[in-house]
Amino acid sequence: MKKSKIIIDKYFITGEVDKRIFGSFIEHLGRAVYQGIYQPDGQFADEQGFRKDTLELVKELQVPIVRYPGGNFVSGYHWEDGVGPKELRPKRVDLAWQVVETNEFGLNEFVDWSKKAHTEVMMAVNLGTRGIDEARDVLEYCNFKGGTRLSDLRKQHGYEQPHDIKLWCLGNEMDGPWQIGHKTADEYGRLANETGKVMKWLDPSIELVASGSSNLTMPTFATWEATVLDHCYETVDYLSLHQYYNNSADDSADFLASSVGMNDFIKQVLSVCDYVKAKKRSKKQINLSFDEWNVWYHSNEQDKKLEKWVQAPHQLEDVYNMEDALLVGSMLITMLRHADRVKIACLAQLVNVIAPIMTSDTGAWRQTIFYPYLHASIYGRGTVLNTIVQSDVYDSKTYGDAPYLDSVVIMNEETKEVTIFAVNKDLEEDMEVSADFRQFADYTIKEHIVLTHDNLKAENTESNPFEVKPESNGTSKMDNGQLTMVLKKKSWNVIRLSGK
Ligand code: AHR
Repeated sequence: MKKSKIIIDKYFITGEVDKRIFGSFIEHLGRAVYQGIYQPDGQFADEQGFRKDTLELVKELQVPIVRYPGGNFVSGYHWEDGVGPKELRPKRVDLAWQVVETNEFGLNEFVDWSKKAHTEVMMAVNLGTRGIDEARDVLEYCNFKGGTRLSDLRKQHGYEQPHDIKLWCLGNEMDGPWQIGHKTADEYGRLANETGKVMKWLDPSIELVASGSSNLTMPTFATWEATVLDHCYETVDYLSLHQYYNNSADDSADFLASSVGMNDFIKQVLSVCDYVKAKKRSKKQINLSFDEWNVWYHSNEQDKKLEKWVQAPHQLEDVYNMEDALLVGSMLITMLRHADRVKIACLAQLVNVIAPIMTSDTGAWRQTIFYPYLHASIYGRGTVLNTIVQSDVYDSKTYGDAPYLDSVVIMNEETKEVTIFAVNKDLEEDMEVSADFRQFADYTIKEHIVLTHDNLKAENTESNPFEVKPESNGTSKMDNGQLTMVLKKKSWNVIRLSGK
């Protein structure tokens, strides 16, 4: 059995967890909205047509915030199409995903759905085909109290009180040539600044996210961030990062090492933010919104065969396996380890489209990745301790040295709980992890949750929804403040300690 160590001190703190780091994303794409969260003619519909079974699973996850309405979709979207009487809403061609959008579901429905899901809204504005006017209009419609054309239109639509949406994305992936209205960094940076300026004049209480690179392999990566921030540093609050990983080479060890790449990506983007801060002699700090992250590749081949211009096709419906859950766990650990600067993150996406939750006409079920996301969201709130991990490393093809152990420790003084998240990436051997926990000597082990499976390719499907599921059967012991945890090979672990 391999041996590793975790070193912490309760006074050596990385930062407070902003609960929005456990956010997610719903785009008008595939069956995310239609059939995923909204299916008025289905057996699970409530009085507004929202799927009750999906709502239950979203509430189980305690998702604190959901980004909407896209994604690539937002860059061609007219929000006005999705408000007011449904019978008057136009059907439109959605060029981003080459489908037909009926607009039966729009921003008011999303706000209502979010309330029922106990979550907040993170709204994106269209900076692809539109700009300052559209952004201030949608903000006026949503947040202005009344007595103006658009705030009164909201009231006329049945929403007397403002939606009071606090977090807004300035466009989406504007560096990508696939984006409707793709821009250069200078074009986007200026537009983001001017749009953001006007939006904050209208509602100074909002926070803004500028679009960073679509992924770290973009040829413009880093100069994009530097140029964009040069224009809008003082106007925006966060810079976005997006990254999806794949195992198309079927090399599990390399795939699981992707969190090393994610860690580097975060560090590099932070360096650029702080470079611009230094250049501007600014007192302000830009933090990060990792507002699209996940594994995405299983559906690539089947999506090439999709018929165009239909409504809500089975698009981006990745079926996740055990190894995907391990990487999702490692990615959550990686972001938590940067909790001082990563304030928002959105698992992309939430339902049916590269998602932890899947639905059919006859039910909803949890994919493998549901579980690490669930555990992080419900047990990962508090203070991140600076967690030093001493572990053997392996040589991964893409990322070089990759530690077998990924881990982070969260302390919650309110609930008197300490939680350790850990992934053992060793495919062959269990691991014994020891840690000096004398500062928590009166704490006892409440639970050691393990998610593992003999077969890394095991999946949860509608007919076999619990093939991969967590068990509270881990082996950990606390002996005079010495914590010893046994992590099964290829496993995600949650060790929960509680004090008196
Ligand atoms: O999440 C799916 C798509 O991935 C989003 O629409 C886009 O922003 C990204 O490229």
